[in-house]
Amino acid sequence: MRRPVFAANWKMHHGPSDARAFLRSFLAHYARRPDRQLLFFPPAISLTTVIDSLKERQDIRVGVQNIHWEDKGAFTGELSAPMARDAGATMALVGHSERRHVFGETDEETASKVAAAVRAGLTPMLCVGEKLEERERGETELVVLRQLRAGIAKVEPHAIGTMMLAYEPVWAIGTGKTATPADASAIHAVIRRELKAILGEKATGIPICYGGSVNRGNAQTLLEASDVDGLLVGGASLDAEGWSSIVRT
Ligand code: PGA
Repeated sequence: MRRPVFAANWKMHHGPSDARAFLRSFLAHYARRPDRQLLFFPPAISLTTVIDSLKERQDIRVGVQNIHWEDKGAFTGELSAPMARDAGATMALVGHSERRHVFGETDEETASKVAAAVRAGLTPMLCVGEKLEERERGETELVVLRQLRAGIAKVEPHAIGTMMLAYEPVWAIGTGKTATPADASAIHAVIRRELKAILGEKATGIPICYGGSVNRGNAQTLLEASDVDGLLVGGASLDAEGWSSIVRT
């Protein structure tokens, strides 16, 4: 059975007090449903609060928004995959466009982070997506495939089979502009084709989420698009009532 993924990326929002209040309200609105996969990516400082608030809800997974590629060491301000795992996270976002374009993360670093997540037993959700100028130059596929190939280059095929992917066109993130379901579908199909070339039919089981200005109004049509297996949502995941209505889509 296809179980769509609904992933909330809180970015730098919801410290521990807000996170606790959010989940109290959200859980009152959202009963366990076996036909969906729910994920939260809170800021690292709120990770244990979120995990604690969800301890009766094993149906909901929690991950970190970023990890370092080393397991430990002199890296002030950083967070490693084994530490995230130890704190109860089971997932890690890797290569989010804000990491790539605001913090200058390279494809090579993204690949090392995917490998670190896999080593620690975290499921990586690798994010890929083109910038507006790349789209306008007709380079969308090129960029997405480059990021995808680079991102999975340091893990074995069996590990790739356990990952999640997210296609997030940079021009659609936080801008109110969304890719049309047809645009999203076309790029998801490119990603799926590439994964199939590596993994064969196993690639059909890899969830590919769409992200970029998803909201209550467009969630359903995006989810109905072929090869769109879930949604990675920033702004519209910050309000408990709004998010609970999206996850009931
Ligand atoms: P947005 O962010 O939903 O606010 O556009 C999505 C993301 O960056 O993951």
